[in-house]
Amino acid sequence: MSRADSDVIVRAADLSRTFAAASAPVHALRGVSLEVRRGEKVALLGRSGSGKSSLLNILGGLDRPTSGSVHVAGLDLTRLTAVQLAHYRSTIVGMIFQSFHLIAARTALQNVELPMVFNGRKPRDRRDAARQALEAVGLSERMRHRPGELSGGERQRVAIARALVNHPEILLADEPTGNLDTATAAEIFDILEENCRRGGVTLLLVTHDEELARRRVDRVLRMQDGRLS
Ligand SMILES: Nc1ncnc2c1ncn2[C@@H]1O[C@H](COP(=O)(O)OP(=O)(O)OP(=O)(O)O)[C@@H](O)[C@H]1O
Ligand SMILES: [Mg+2]
Repeated sequence: MSRADSDVIVRAADLSRTFAAASAPVHALRGVSLEVRRGEKVALLGRSGSGKSSLLNILGGLDRPTSGSVHVAGLDLTRLTAVQLAHYRSTIVGMIFQSFHLIAARTALQNVELPMVFNGRKPRDRRDAARQALEAVGLSERMRHRPGELSGGERQRVAIARALVNHPEILLADEPTGNLDTATAAEIFDILEENCRRGGVTLLLVTHDEELARRRVDRVLRMQDGRLS
């Protein structure tokens, strides 16, 4: 791999994703090519249904493209087995979502510990790492709270801690501030930015907030009808 290649963390070429539907197939992605450099902060904008989540899900190893190639951190995602993809998701990539996706019956601390259960860390190390990750998002005082006992902004902070606790190389955030008021959204963005910068984590963020995108990221990408414009 050349030096230029090692600076690129995401390389996708001519990606397509077609969903079979009852009436007619849906072409969610129609030939998306994309490169993201290590450490870059990129925002992805586009109307509802334009294919943003479809792209993020493929980059996150949650879905596979219908055709095209996708490499993240030097791994060809189309060639990984289901088990290898699970490993990829727990080591290379972190994801956060608009609706937080926390486990309601578990405390903040237990939610953040969860990704480490699958990579064999000792219980005491897991607890220490989860505490640190929650401290880093300013939630030291809420570790024993369950999601239902937290505000929206606090829930998203737990989700950020959970996504970063295994030290991923890239964080994919799908409208992480979509359910939050403007002030809380700005705060969450600061926390994301700060934590990614500190860990040298690349950030690819879907948002509807033009203003936030333009001011806070290195590059803005726009998606329209399954294509990047
Ligand atoms: N599992 C699926 N089965 C069938 N069609 C799907 C599936 N997932 C997404 N689609 C369709 O693919 C298109 C792109 O969806 P996607 O979720 O990627 O859009 P989006 O840009 O994330 O939209 P939003 O801003 O509303 O989240 C939409 O037309 C959607 O209906
Ligand atoms: Mg979406």
